[in-house]
This record gives sequence, structure tokens and C-alpha cells, in this order.
Amino acid sequence: MTTAPHVTSAAPVPTQSTYQSRVAEYWNAEENPVNLELGKIDDLYHHHYGIGPADNSVLDEPDPARRNDRLTAELHRLEHAQANFLADRLGPLAPTDRVFDAGCGRGGGSVVAHLRYGCQADGVTISAKQADFANAQAAERGIDGQVRYHHRNMLDTGLPTGAFAASWNNESTMYVELELLLAEHTRLLRRGGRYVVITGCYNDSYGQASREVSLINAHYICDIHPRSEYFRAMARNRLVPVHVEDLTEAALPYWELRKQADHLVTGIEDTFLTAYKNGSFQYRMIAADRV
Ligand SMILES: C[S@@+](CC[C@H](N)C(=O)[O-])C[C@H]1O[C@@H](n2cnc3c(N)ncnc32)[C@H](O)[C@@H]1O
Repeated sequence: MTTAPHVTSAAPVPTQSTYQSRVAEYWNAEENPVNLELGKIDDLYHHHYGIGPADNSVLDEPDPARRNDRLTAELHRLEHAQANFLADRLGPLAPTDRVFDAGCGRGGGSVVAHLRYGCQADGVTISAKQADFANAQAAERGIDGQVRYHHRNMLDTGLPTGAFAASWNNESTMYVELELLLAEHTRLLRRGGRYVVITGCYNDSYGQASREVSLINAHYICDIHPRSEYFRAMARNRLVPVHVEDLTEAALPYWELRKQADHLVTGIEDTFLTAYKNGSFQYRMIAADRV
């Protein structure tokens, strides 16, 4: 009998994977008008989509420049409504409480939570440029003592165990393995703390991810999870869902309007609309208690 030679040396594991480096590069380079022009309105920079009924009368504005401005403002209002919807589900929180914003983008969500509850916030992004931008914004608002942003990996934040009353992911779960992410949230949250996620997920009661979901993955360099995986990973990580809401219908007016904003479109609008309408993709909110 012959045996294969015993290999003992392990391949070196980089601190940041090749994939994570690409994601960081993407967000370091990202300057889409739909993210920057909307944020400039009130210095609340959101990199997520909007929800709720849209005021489509902005499309009837006869003056082209004013039409663009009104469209920009309306899309921002819908994105801000989404941020408020998430913030509503974090509470009640006191100014002494600390919250964790995982995959915080240019920082809007942490500012919204701080303004709502007076709480301390720590945002984490894999993009150094976003963390610098968000910290500069917090300093300009004079809230940098309470709202801080860190250039770190949300799977391994180095933040203190059990120190957080609430935490969330707003459209940032599709960049990481859910089991690892939720394990980190569970480590950071105190017992009875609240975790909230808003995300696009593929509808696995339809089977595998649809063509549209694959196109969205390629567009953003991400890997959208199936709906079931959220509940499985939560159950394994002491996170018990208390409120689940399908926001797919509520997201449609935003996408219908954005599609007509020639100065802001990124080219992915029709794909989102098709995916939502054919049922293969869903926009979901899950709030869970850390037990
Ligand atoms: C679509 S943006 C959402 C930003 C923000 N949550 C918001 O609602 O405005 C996705 C964010 O996830 C961040 N991200 C992706 N992978 C990450 C990781 N491994 N660790 C930390 N942040 C990550 C990106 O840097 C980016 O800020």
C-alpha cells in the first residue's frame, strides 16, 4: 500500500481576503451622483434605497434643472424614510447606550440613530475613504465625540464584547458570510440587545437565485443570500426574530422614480424592478433580540 506524503504546512491566510480588497477598492472609488448629490442636500449620506409612496409630480416639472433638483430631493426623502424606518426599530435607547452600524458607508445611518436617541454610535466600513469622509462629517456637525467611524472589517471589529444595546446592517450583509457576521453582532450586543437588518435577499421558495439576482451581484461585487439563510444564521447565533417585514412593495416607487432620473441612474434600475416584480428577489427587514 502507498500513502500520499503528509503535508503539514498551511497556506498563509491574508488578514483581508482578495475579495474584501476588491470590495474596499469599489467603495474607495465610488462617487455615484445618486449617493453624493442626495447626501449634499442635508449632509446625511445614505447608500441604500428608499421606501414609501413617491411624489411623482416632480416628473411634471417643466424646467429641466428644477426637475432634476426636485427628483434628487424626492429620492433623498425616500432613502431617509428607509433610514428612519430602521432607526425606529432599534429603540428604546438612552444617550448612555452605544450602537453599532455594520458596513456604515458614508455614515448617514449612525447620524440618524444619534439624532433620534442621543446614543453613542460606532460605524465600521471596509473603505478607508468612507470612514474618513464620515468622521469629517461628524466633526462638522460637532457630534464626533458621540459618533465615530472605523476603517475595519465588520466580521472582526475589535470593539468591546457586550457593550452595545443595538446594532444593524443596512444593505451590507451581502458582502460577507452571514454566520461570521451574526456571530460578531452577538458578541458585541448585550443580552436583550436589538439587531436589525434591512437587505435584499433572494426568494429561495423559487429555488436558486434568478438571472436578475446574478446581475445585481455582478454589478455590486456582492453575493446576495437566500432568505432562509438569515433565519438559520440568526437561530445559530442567539438572535430571535421579533419583527419581520417584507418591504418589496414599499421599495417599488423609489425604483420607478429613480429609473426616470437621467442624472442619477446607475444602469441597475430595470434589473431591480424586474427582480422585485417577478418575485425572485425581496427587500426585507428583520428585527431580532439577542438572547
Ligand atoms: C451598500 S453600502 C451600505 C452603506 C450603509 N449601511 C448605508 O445604509 O448607507 C455597503 C457598505 O458595506 C461595507 N462593507 C462591505 N464589506 C464590509 C466588511 N467586510 N466590513 C466592513 N464593511 C463592509 C462597504 O464598505 C459599504 O460601506
